[in-house]
Amino acid sequence: MRGVIEQYRPYLDLPDTPAVTLGEGSTPLVFWNTWGASEIFLKLEGTNPTGSFKDRGMTVAVTVARHEGARAVICASTGNTAASAAAYAARAGLQSFVVVPKGRVTQEKMLQALAHGAQMLAIDGNFDQALDVVRTTAERHPAIALVNSVNPWRLRGQESGAYEIIDDLNRAPAALVLPVGNAGNISAYFHGFRRYGRGIPRMLGIQAAGASPLVAGHDFDNPDTIASAIRIGKPASKPYALEAAAVSRGGFYAVSDDEILGAQKELAHGGIFVEPASAAAYAGLKALREQGLLPAGPVVGILTGTGLKDGSTPRQWIDASTVETPAERVGETIIALMEGTGSHVAH
Ligand code: F0G
Repeated sequence: MRGVIEQYRPYLDLPDTPAVTLGEGSTPLVFWNTWGASEIFLKLEGTNPTGSFKDRGMTVAVTVARHEGARAVICASTGNTAASAAAYAARAGLQSFVVVPKGRVTQEKMLQALAHGAQMLAIDGNFDQALDVVRTTAERHPAIALVNSVNPWRLRGQESGAYEIIDDLNRAPAALVLPVGNAGNISAYFHGFRRYGRGIPRMLGIQAAGASPLVAGHDFDNPDTIASAIRIGKPASKPYALEAAAVSRGGFYAVSDDEILGAQKELAHGGIFVEPASAAAYAGLKALREQGLLPAGPVVGILTGTGLKDGSTPRQWIDASTVETPAERVGETIIALMEGTGSHVAH
């Protein structure tokens, strides 16, 4: 793993400075299935060092922050940005401060950020309010670098996802389907495809129905969805995202929480465990297929984060609980289960 900066430095316009890296990027692009004339590929961004796509942007943002003399980084987060910022700050020897909506971030993501030494500040409010707070704080304190996706370096780093897809497929896909919260990632992919100069796919952004300002055409004051990572009502990168959809002849679509959970389960049963926000992309792929809206050719779904980051949600659909059995009866219990006979509890 060379890391995003070493791999794509000529595209990043970075100052000449050593990279703060954890070997992010180079994530698998897995062929999933053929659906009619569309070939579905899934990009497993949960295999990044902190388990989400945020690491692509964080390596660049923290590299520049350190180069410019920052002493600390700050971000607002639904969890993944916090974990990534904390890890890269730790790598760079900087302090990290993360502002989160109280009670709305998964324990696993909180644990990650804290393990890397972040100072957590929980506010009574949602992500959008947390972002307002950190923007103001960073403006007032020049030694604290803001590393949310409103930092242009974050988006430059995230463009690398687009470069990798083109390098892997040897062409631009016909469509790109990805979950949208604050709308940084869809903007970064769009600019990445544009900068790489090998064609631009249809940019199809998927939002959770209860937090779907780009589908509805207005901000949401109280965004609500099981997919906590994309529980965002006022996307900061809205103008870029709208441009991406318009220029690429793409669009925004909403999926329900039930569709998200169904998609998460279907992926898991196919060997890929993602968090609900990422499952939204797959739910979107399925909905677009039903509506006949998937173009022919390669279609890539971006699975933004690993399922290990949100243990609470799958618990709701795990029905086959552990079988308790005496050690000497394990073999016969398994045979009984395989044949679909016998009790699930062998005593
Ligand atoms: N998927 C996951 C797993 C995320 O964590 C996020 C955003 C998105 C999709 C949406 O990406 O905001 O660029 O449109 N998470 C941010 C965070 C908000 O704080 O971790 P986006």
